[in-house]
Amino acid sequence: MADKSIAGKGLEDVVVATSDICLIDGKKGTLVYRGYDIRELVEGGATFEETAYLLLNGKFPNRTELDDFSRAMAGCRALPKEVLKIMQILAHQSHPMELLRTVTSLMSSYDPDRGDTSLDAMRRRALRLVAQFPTIVATFDHMRNNRDPVTPDPELSHAANFLYMLRDEKPDKYESRVFDVCLILHAEHELNASTFSARVTASTLAGMFGAVTSAVGTLRGPLHGGANEEVMKMLIEVDSVEKAESHVKQLFADKRKIMGFGHRVYRTDDPRATFLREYSRELGKRKQTPKWFEISQKIEEIVKANKTLYPNVDFYSASTYHYLGIPRDLFTPIFATSRISGWCAHILEQYQHNRLIRPTADYTGPQDLKYVPVDERK
Ligand SMILES: CC(C)(COP(=O)(O)OP(=O)(O)OC[C@H]1O[C@@H](n2cnc3c(N)ncnc32)[C@H](O)[C@@H]1OP(=O)(O)O)[C@@H](O)C(=O)NCCC(=O)NCCS
Repeated sequence: MADKSIAGKGLEDVVVATSDICLIDGKKGTLVYRGYDIRELVEGGATFEETAYLLLNGKFPNRTELDDFSRAMAGCRALPKEVLKIMQILAHQSHPMELLRTVTSLMSSYDPDRGDTSLDAMRRRALRLVAQFPTIVATFDHMRNNRDPVTPDPELSHAANFLYMLRDEKPDKYESRVFDVCLILHAEHELNASTFSARVTASTLAGMFGAVTSAVGTLRGPLHGGANEEVMKMLIEVDSVEKAESHVKQLFADKRKIMGFGHRVYRTDDPRATFLREYSRELGKRKQTPKWFEISQKIEEIVKANKTLYPNVDFYSASTYHYLGIPRDLFTPIFATSRISGWCAHILEQYQHNRLIRPTADYTGPQDLKYVPVDERK
């Protein structure tokens, strides 16, 4: 319509909210949570628990607050037995992201705060969701492989406990820290597609489970969180450093996207990829299979030589997760086990300053058509 100005396709560069949670500078390649650059968090030794607290509460916890928060989180990792029963039925026929989406929705029926819309109840819900997401993912993996799920260990950190529940073996200190940092790096990213969908759902005053279910559904797609799984498929297909160049050139020739490259916001290195590249390199050495890192590095070199495209968070997280022994189809659910903290922070922020999110469209279809009864239509 002539009197409507249309925003950039895909809402590019459109500002739709104010937020105190996250700042991305796409030109400088910086990512800031509540005023702290992620480099500060990672290099300063912050944990995922501290990061989740920061995102949900707007400030870092002191020692007592952190201990209370970590204990509370560790104390609610277990899933309701009714949820476990339904998961058992679904485990053999669902993609893990479908399972996670369904179970998120299902959890609303077993919410101890059901019906309570107070901010305190929302915060308790957020804490439980952050605590339980890893349990859902690890439990699902055991169920689909006909193994008994591993009971969460409240003595372990959030990151170490996930690896323990998944692999049924306590991880060493280095692997726990790598995974902890992976969780920190994926925790929050401003109004990415899944967070935006969470806020849209929350803005109707639908509950937190509905908003998170929307977010999980949105994260799954290969243009968003699903890219890390696609990256690993590509690495396996390429299989050797020598074949990387012809593979990438063929993708370019076929005008197909190289998964794990490009970003709507970053016009330079994604700061998360910078950390993940080094973890992938180091894990490759430690596991004595540098191949996956080397193929990734070669692909990065070829892509950069041909196009102005940089690796995003998904590119080196693929080989990093692979080195950590995580099955490929769990890569995106693991993204969700971290991003749940950012989603909940945004949902809480949305509820506190809510106005229904309802944009409008520029109608380009026909007008003034006349109804013709079905039997008279050609
Ligand atoms: C992330 C992504 C969806 C951002 O998309 P966007 O901002 O809408 O950018 P576009 O898809 O419009 O891409 C702009 C241009 O760069 C190209 N491009 C972007 N990402 C590309 C990629 N990964 N491989 C090849 N070309 C790419 C597009 O083909 C397009 O070229 P054109 O202008 O000649 O048509 C996009 O870069 C992508 O699909 N990447 C691969 C999937 C991925 O890794 N997703 C995870 C994101 S964290």
